[in-house]
Amino acid sequence: MDKVIIFDTTLRDGEQAPGYSMNVSEKVNMARQLERLGADVIEAGFAASSTGDLEAVKAVSAAVDNAIVASLSRARREDIDLAYEAVKDAKRPRIHIFLATSPIHIKHKLKMTENEVLERIYDSVSYAKTLIDDVQFSCEDATRSERKFLLKAVETAIEAGAKTVNIPDTVGYSEPGETEDLFKYVKNNAKGIERVILSTHNHDDLGLAVANTLAAVKAGARQIEGTINGIGERAGNAALEEIIMGIKTRRDLYGVYTNVNTKEIYRTSKLLSSIVGASIPSNKAIVGRNAFKHEAGIHQHGMLASRDTYEIIDPKEVGIVDSEIVLGKHSGRHAVEQEINNLGYELTESDIKDVYEKFIELADKKKTVSQKDLEAILTNKKKVTVGNGYRLVNYSIMTEGNKKAKAGVTVTREGDAVSNTAEGDGPVAAAFNAFNGIAGRDFKLIDFQIQSVTEGEDALGEAIIRLMAGTRTTVGRGVSTDIIEAALLGYINAVNKLIFM
Ligand code: KIV
Ligand code: ZN
Repeated sequence: MDKVIIFDTTLRDGEQAPGYSMNVSEKVNMARQLERLGADVIEAGFAASSTGDLEAVKAVSAAVDNAIVASLSRARREDIDLAYEAVKDAKRPRIHIFLATSPIHIKHKLKMTENEVLERIYDSVSYAKTLIDDVQFSCEDATRSERKFLLKAVETAIEAGAKTVNIPDTVGYSEPGETEDLFKYVKNNAKGIERVILSTHNHDDLGLAVANTLAAVKAGARQIEGTINGIGERAGNAALEEIIMGIKTRRDLYGVYTNVNTKEIYRTSKLLSSIVGASIPSNKAIVGRNAFKHEAGIHQHGMLASRDTYEIIDPKEVGIVDSEIVLGKHSGRHAVEQEINNLGYELTESDIKDVYEKFIELADKKKTVSQKDLEAILTNKKKVTVGNGYRLVNYSIMTEGNKKAKAGVTVTREGDAVSNTAEGDGPVAAAFNAFNGIAGRDFKLIDFQIQSVTEGEDALGEAIIRLMAGTRTTVGRGVSTDIIEAALLGYINAVNKLIFM
């Protein structure tokens, strides 16, 4: 069986989705988890696009031990220099150059002739090769390119020294039969193709990104590009977790394998969703909360007789552990620590102490604490603490009929407690207004989602808040059995990131 290289572009193409940008520490956090997942290549950003991206690629390069770290680059020497600057300290650096090859892009965007495009491909790839050995070239909008010209572009990149050649479906226009045929055409006709890895990169405009990726694998693609949860421009990129499990589950069809530790899939997906503040649709394949639930009686009956009647993947394989274990306020620290380990978290002594305190607080409010609750505490822990930021101490709410709600909020900053009261159209708005009075400014609330972590009336509520100040957007997350407290915690977390990070 051939190995298929997993090229994760969550931190670059995924981040290009509006409102999904990540700061340096969030990217580093995510990159570490991607490495635990077993991604072979992590595209950490587009160094020339901003100094923030340059810094983020540098930080990921320093943080990652085994995976290749790539920076995207336009086919220009100035961009390539910056990409090199960003990845040069990675243990395994890569520069990823792209240039469009379709007539639409060449005429309207590049305003170049075909010969100029080929010259630029040769010049940029061979220039990058003087800096670094591992150079990838992508023919942007390949699926709308003329086949003969696409072939020339691929051959030019190979001649100039590219080690990987990518054939992207940039606008999500292709369909699986066509994709398979295109990859066969390139594989059978491009001179030197046996010297390079052929890569596939698909967007989901017609909902076919995963299907196109798998079709390309059938035709010989040995690098797959995609993002966790399928995040990305417009309708997004191909969802890596779906492709990885497709390859694993239908080994009989694809005859290839990946290096991914599939047990890390669920955690990776949850971490990303908490960082970018986007909840995962409940019916989403592999990681949606209903993906392994069986409601219909006839299905439940079948499952009791034998799991494989209605289940093609054991949820444990993707890291979803049955939430059968139940902890309560009499569970000792040791039991909680054991469960933290089972969930795959490695924490310091002081972090464990912190989580245990939060666990006891929760166990006082809820009769039982499930694994999902514990997971929410753990993910929230990473999110809420921002160095010297504001911390919620207390709050109170008063509502009466259709009168305006009143809220009182007390927070600390560097040890000093400050309180304020304010009114609002509802209890949440009043609480946010009271806090804004303390922070001394207003923030633009762009998105506010609230959902329960587990079932039941005493379930933990998880709030995801997206705020904007100037041109910056941040996402904050808060969990509590009280949804107003969860919203306030999320709001304060987002403000802390805006002001102090
Ligand atoms: O979709 C695309 O074509 C890309 C390239 C830059 C690889 O993201
Ligand atoms: Zn793309």
